[in-house]
Amino acid sequence: LITDVRLRRILDSRGNPTVEADVLTESGGFGRAAAPSGASTGEYEAVERPPTEAIAAAREHAVPRLVGEAYAGNQREVDAILHAADGTDDFSEIGANSAVAISMAAAKAGADVLGAPLFQHLGGTFRGQNFPVPLGNVVGGGEHAADATDIQEFLVAPVGAPSVEDAVFANAAAHAAVADLLEERDVPSGKGDEGAWAPSIDDSEAFEIVEEAVSRVEDEVGFEVRFGLDVAAAEMYDADSETYEYESAGESRDTAEQIAYIADLVSEYDLVYVEDPLDENDYDAFADLTDEVDEETLVCGDDLFVTNTERLQEGIDRGAANSILIKPNQIGTLTDAFDAIELAGANGYESVVSHRSGETEDATIAHLAVATDVPYVKTGAVGGERTAKLNELIRIADDAT
Ligand code: PGA
Ligand code: ZN
Repeated sequence: LITDVRLRRILDSRGNPTVEADVLTESGGFGRAAAPSGASTGEYEAVERPPTEAIAAAREHAVPRLVGEAYAGNQREVDAILHAADGTDDFSEIGANSAVAISMAAAKAGADVLGAPLFQHLGGTFRGQNFPVPLGNVVGGGEHAADATDIQEFLVAPVGAPSVEDAVFANAAAHAAVADLLEERDVPSGKGDEGAWAPSIDDSEAFEIVEEAVSRVEDEVGFEVRFGLDVAAAEMYDADSETYEYESAGESRDTAEQIAYIADLVSEYDLVYVEDPLDENDYDAFADLTDEVDEETLVCGDDLFVTNTERLQEGIDRGAANSILIKPNQIGTLTDAFDAIELAGANGYESVVSHRSGETEDATIAHLAVATDVPYVKTGAVGGERTAKLNELIRIADDAT
């Protein structure tokens, strides 16, 4: 039984405040979790409130309904209480940041009471056999860095890695190889919010560099390494002109041209993954692109679906995308995230569990990815808030095998 829920403001990786929750139980269980935060957020995400307001509202409405009332291990009950306490359909009262921090902290307290690892509490006793391939962000721009690539993320996918540890190190090697290639070309570079290199180059040069970096790493590690993209196209879409604006390249594409361009990139670079290649309101364009590419390529909806089962159902009905990005803070609770993964799986869609650009050392998503047996997890390549998840995956694999 939950005996206390403590909420506080802590720092995220951008230096912004975010919400951390502690959940304590009668039998001595303890769970702590923190909300991440996006920069290229989807229009339809649950509402993140300023942490001070989110904390005050959650203390007033949610905490009294949980303390002495709910069991931390009963995730559906905890999350239903969060929804009831909030009373809106987008968590605009207590804030999705307070909601997700409490939801994840309750899960950890539940696992603690059971004495089980979090992935096992969430996924059951047979989980931990398969590990997701981490997608490592090595070059990017968009909303995550000023004056860099138009495409938000170039993501290395070590698909042939024999273990999650090999995969994690392959991504770090690709990140280092990109640094070498930038130096060889005399291109200076800082890093974006997720730790990817953020040089002032256009996308075509980034493709050359990432393709070369991936092939160098492949030679070094001896297994297959591919790559993919998060285009985050909603951020480049201009609804008035109905065009996608590539500012650093000085190019503009209408929807048909954007679909053809992405399909060409998929075949030219043998991409395994393309996230948000089209605007978040354009299910039809997503459906056209999904028809056009090989079904082995994941066309993933992030801003399109925002981890929301209603939006996902619409996509399933219209054949838009073939996979969904899962970010618990986009929807507010672990239960909602699980329901989205379940709906996806029942309809032949894959799920990809993801971090946000603003992160903390919280590693819940590593456990969520293992618990739900997803093929990929997106959690960066380097940087403490990113390695928190990657190192947790290595530990889970070490404990489970
Ligand atoms: P965000 O970006 O966390 O800034 O929204 C990540 C993404 O678009 O996948
Ligand atoms: Zn995205």
